[in-house]
Amino acid sequence: STIYILNGPNLNTLGRREPAIYGSATLADVERRCIEVGKAAGFEIVFRQSNHEGELVDWIQQAREEAVAIIINAAAYTHTSLAIHDALRYFDKPIVEVHISNIHAREEIRHKSLIAPIALGMIVGFGPVGYELAIAALKSRLT
Ligand code: DQA
Repeated sequence: STIYILNGPNLNTLGRREPAIYGSATLADVERRCIEVGKAAGFEIVFRQSNHEGELVDWIQQAREEAVAIIINAAAYTHTSLAIHDALRYFDKPIVEVHISNIHAREEIRHKSLIAPIALGMIVGFGPVGYELAIAALKSRLT
């Protein structure tokens, strides 16, 4: 079974962007770990990043046909995108929301998530390990 791990805008610069907040691991490092941890848990991982809202919507629709769950770090779109919220609503399987930083300890505008109300759960503030924790959470939920 396949899990889609979707990443939103600016996460392609992970490792170089604000390392004090987001750490020094790159997105390629995170992808490698997720594929490894996913494999050990019995999942095939499809790991993607886009800076474009509509592309993320397309992938969420595709996941409906191909994935048993979605792990999503929608980055700034978390706080703004009704389109991603609506696409996720139509995905009638578990959704885990991940944020590398603790969005609740940051600016007020980051406290609100349009994804949280439709997610199974949310993992924030643990750095890139959050993605691995999300895979573990789905393992226990789905098996
Ligand atoms: C983020 C938090 C968002 O507020 C921010 O816009 C990001 C990254 C995180 O993983 O901590 O780009 O989703």
